[in-house]
Amino acid sequence: MTAIEQAIITWIHLVAAAIWVGGSLFIGIVFSPLLKTMTNSIEERMQIMIRVGRRFNKVAVPSLIILMVTGLYTSHVLLSKPDLLVSTSYGTFLIIKIILVIALIVTYAVHVRVIRKDVEEKIMSNQMPESEIQKLRKKIIILGEITVVLSIAILFFASLLDAGV
Ligand code: HEM
Repeated sequence: MTAIEQAIITWIHLVAAAIWVGGSLFIGIVFSPLLKTMTNSIEERMQIMIRVGRRFNKVAVPSLIILMVTGLYTSHVLLSKPDLLVSTSYGTFLIIKIILVIALIVTYAVHVRVIRKDVEEKIMSNQMPESEIQKLRKKIIILGEITVVLSIAILFFASLLDAGV
């Protein structure tokens, strides 16, 4: 791969990371607290959050896929050399990063699965009792927090790789 090709791949990887991490943080730090001041109804807040989540997924899921494709492309030569993977710190950090990415995908998949179509329809048509919404909300918040923490941890391992520690 030439230097300019590598730069373009890294650029795409960085833009996708900015969309994924920036978007999740925006929802957690800016949008979610603001939503609390907009209405006291938990039901209404969940309905708005579902619509925001649905919209965000349209860019977040492709970003995550692009991150995996460009990341694996950048590292495919090293990944095909298991001895180097385990004997260098770069290889070890790369393995940890990939494990964290797998954990991220699983958490995100569970997060999306919790608000399945039937659950979503029940909330949207005001057919879910408030106690059930409360339970669901707690689960979604925890899963969202794990997603953000994992993403930040992945960025740390990306920095270790970049610095050649
Ligand atoms: C299977 C998934 C992934 C693989 C295999 C992968 C692999 C890599 C590799 C090899 C690098 C280059 C490090 C270097 O400079 O030597 C890198 C950089 C980076 N990755 Fe990933 N990555 C993946 C997913 C992600 C995800 C999900 C994020 C965001 C949360 C992310 C964010 C970054 C960032 C910000 C950099 C720094 C760019 C640089 O300086 O090169 N990566 N990644």
